[in-house]
Amino acid sequence: MSQDDFVPSMKESEIKEGKMRAVRIKGRSILLVRQGGQVFGVSNQCPHMGCSLEGGILRDYLVMCPCHGWKFDIRNGQYEEIKEVTLACYRCKIENGKVYVEISLEK
Ligand code: FES
Repeated sequence: MSQDDFVPSMKESEIKEGKMRAVRIKGRSILLVRQGGQVFGVSNQCPHMGCSLEGGILRDYLVMCPCHGWKFDIRNGQYEEIKEVTLACYRCKIENGKVYVEISLEK
């Protein structure tokens, strides 16, 4: 894959440190999380029963689903109890005051 698949999502100023925002890009609901000066992107849909993670609680690098409390590491998408259960992860970068999310056109 040689082409640049980073898609602009929002202004950097719209997501503060320690906060989460859901965005919709190419039909996918993606949770953006700003933590430790970086922005992480994971699927906004909990793999347990499909609740939106946006309404959950963020502690350090763990987001807790608001429905039944499953916790996921935003750095790799892993469910803390069963590492094989993961959220899809999307690489993000900040450039020129905007947050870009990598969405492969082939996926
Ligand atoms: S739907 Fe997320 S923990 Fe149940």
